[in-house]
Amino acid sequence: MNRAFFLTGTDTGVGKTLIAAALLGAAAARGLRALGMKPVAAGGDEDIAALIAAGSVAAPRELTNPYLLGEPLSPHLAARRDGVSIDVEHLARCCEALRQRADFLIVEGAGGFRVPLTETLDGADLAARLGLPLILVVGLRLGCLNHALLTEEAIRARGLPLAGWVANQVVPKMACVEENVATLRARIDAPLLGFVPHQAAPDAARIAALLELPS
Ligand SMILES: Nc1ncnc2c1ncn2[C@@H]1O[C@H](COP(=O)(O)OP(=O)(O)O)[C@@H](O)[C@H]1O
Ligand SMILES: [Mg+2]
Repeated sequence: MNRAFFLTGTDTGVGKTLIAAALLGAAAARGLRALGMKPVAAGGDEDIAALIAAGSVAAPRELTNPYLLGEPLSPHLAARRDGVSIDVEHLARCCEALRQRADFLIVEGAGGFRVPLTETLDGADLAARLGLPLILVVGLRLGCLNHALLTEEAIRARGLPLAGWVANQVVPKMACVEENVATLRARIDAPLLGFVPHQAAPDAARIAALLELPS
């Protein structure tokens, strides 16, 4: 078995890294060789550190995080400031090399699905180039229904399969949480992998118990 997924979210800061780490931990606990990849990080290496900590096999950092940009900006702007040009073909080769080393690979996108990566390409182009099934993390808060449905539409428009979505409550209090999740369940044509309530102290291992692994 060799499964790989591109994990995207409704926005930045919606729990992509936390959910990716939880899924990697769940896969590792089942004895799978679990690996995370962060193709492009801007303004810090916390994401790749969390993915490495959650995975169960080692891989060179040049493969797991090919681009680490200096400033916390949209990748195309951070890359411009660093004088770097992001090469999607290079990312595809790194992803392929990681797939050889893993049974379960999660590629965490930067920001939301259509965040610009270069002057002409964006996260959706990268997902399409990698050709992986998507996992969508919906950060439950006011406005998330629109963001989730737009993201699903953009995924479908590229002909990519949506392996599942996660309802992640990023705010401590939200009115009508269940109704919001039910609304998305009725409209998103993919399995809900789990509902994660707001956590006082987020812990990927604990969250893993709330999630199903995508198939
Ligand atoms: N369900 C949750 N409950 C509480 N805090 C959360 C939850 N999900 C995410 N967070 C917190 O929100 C912040 C952003 O999460 P992160 O996984 O880094 O998002 P992203 O990768 O989408 O930018 C982190 O501090 C994380 O611990
Ligand atoms: Mg992240």
